[in-house]
Amino acid sequence: MNEEQRKQQQQTKTKPNLEKDYSKYFEHVFEPPNLKDARKRGKEDVQYHKDFKIDERFQGMGKGRKFYIRTYGCQMNAHDTEVMAGIFQSLGYEATTSVDDADVILLNTCAIRENAENKVFGEIGNLKHIKQARPDCLIGVCGCMSQEEAVVNKILKSYHNVDMIFGTHNIHRLPEILEEAYMSKAMVVEVWSKEGDVIENLPKVRDGKIKAWVNIMYGCDKFCTYCIVPFTRGKERSRMPKDIIDEVRDLARQGYQEICLLGQNVNSYGKDLGLDYDLGDLMRDVSKIDIPRVRFTTSHPWDFTDNLIEVLATGGNLVEHIHLPVQSGNNEVLKIMGRKYTRESYLELVRKIKQQIPDVALTTDIIVGYPNETEEQFQETLSLYEEVGFEHAYTYIYSPRPGTPAAKMDDNVSKEVKSDRLQRLNKLVTEYSERALSQYVGETVEVLCEGTSKKRDDVLSGYTRKNKLVNFIGSEELIGQRVMVEITEAMNYSLNGKFVSIVEQREGVEV
Ligand code: SAH
Ligand code: SF4
Ligand code: F3S
Repeated sequence: MNEEQRKQQQQTKTKPNLEKDYSKYFEHVFEPPNLKDARKRGKEDVQYHKDFKIDERFQGMGKGRKFYIRTYGCQMNAHDTEVMAGIFQSLGYEATTSVDDADVILLNTCAIRENAENKVFGEIGNLKHIKQARPDCLIGVCGCMSQEEAVVNKILKSYHNVDMIFGTHNIHRLPEILEEAYMSKAMVVEVWSKEGDVIENLPKVRDGKIKAWVNIMYGCDKFCTYCIVPFTRGKERSRMPKDIIDEVRDLARQGYQEICLLGQNVNSYGKDLGLDYDLGDLMRDVSKIDIPRVRFTTSHPWDFTDNLIEVLATGGNLVEHIHLPVQSGNNEVLKIMGRKYTRESYLELVRKIKQQIPDVALTTDIIVGYPNETEEQFQETLSLYEEVGFEHAYTYIYSPRPGTPAAKMDDNVSKEVKSDRLQRLNKLVTEYSERALSQYVGETVEVLCEGTSKKRDDVLSGYTRKNKLVNFIGSEELIGQRVMVEITEAMNYSLNGKFVSIVEQREGVEV
């Protein structure tokens, strides 16, 4: 064997050669992602697994070991991290907040925009020194980026400090994946592209005892032309109403004060179940549970039903804040985006919502600089913003996502023009946010106190029902309680106020 051959053989032990079929280098698990499969929506029934159990052979795997998870992206990922933390804990691992003493490091990634991905690649690079100093430390990449072929190929090719890659559909297989990674020298890759299952009773370590996320559905079938989520999260699968209600009841019993029902497109809830039961019905049932605040995210304007508006209008623990992403105010752009509603139908929906919930706070998401967006089309987004009077918005420059239809479109809008539009939009957003905040001065509002402010220990902070951040002076016993606060001052992004009283617990509602 000559020097060249010897080098090559050595290389293949630790890193696959992409020109060849690299699956043969993986003795154990190797299932790469496939965007084509991820696009398919099969007719097969969703399998419901109620019996998640950690196999006995994994007991004690984490004894004397620590795990660290860094989370990027949306609430869905934040909640997946809670599930993975639950699995780690069931295996005997201890949590740590520092990568330096972690024995397993997971990056739970987001693929929504290119800069989100770049951040993750930067971080994987930063972790190289840890792997060099402590080769036994396992480094894993999971979450939405793992579902992308191009990302997995890039990691296989250039980031050999990674030990395992697994996707969003198989986090329940974390024990098996860890075991493979401990046994194998090669990178363990297990990404399921096509998935239709709902797994109940997964262990969870929730982040805090005040607010909790509750998944009501997984995946998205909308396929907006710019969006990677339907590829990374699979087809829409709703959880059974009873499972959701049981989870919320349990959280209420544990003393949680606020829950947020989660889904990429919560308004599609129930459609796949074949029951005559939609998000409005679910909200009605959840509103009867003794938990002080209930939110949901994210809504798609397309399926926002009259039933849901009627239920939300009953108030009680259903908060008067709706996040209703519009993306653009121009019909042609909305059409190319595949949003399936028009400026007019969106405004009509807003009119109905405001009519039945006069006190509602509306917030939104907007993308500027869509391929070939004209100045006039952008102006329509600005005018729609004013017409609705949104209280806040998350705004983004369009980012092409490989594999999506929009990524193939020609684009005649320069980077400079896109940035300029974003700046102009953000100016309007700030103006409206400040206006919304200034209206609170002199009013007394309910605040769910979550902790001390980041800057000062004697300052407490929390959010109103409409999700406005409020800072006020008070003692730490108020943390975890709902309190009335008189607003004295509006800042750029928050409110300052004076503590008035503690809110009494609600009565006469079931737990
Ligand atoms: N399911 C939600 C959105 C989830 S993604 C909905 O349909 O409303 C959150 C936001 O990211 C989107 O509302 C959109 O504004 C933005 N976004 C998604 N893909 C994007 C892309 N390719 N480029 C820029 N922004 C994007
Ligand atoms: Fe993406 Fe559209 Fe689905 Fe939202 S509804 S997750 S933007 S495809
Ligand atoms: Fe990002 Fe995946 Fe959420 S792409 S926004 S983490 S669903």
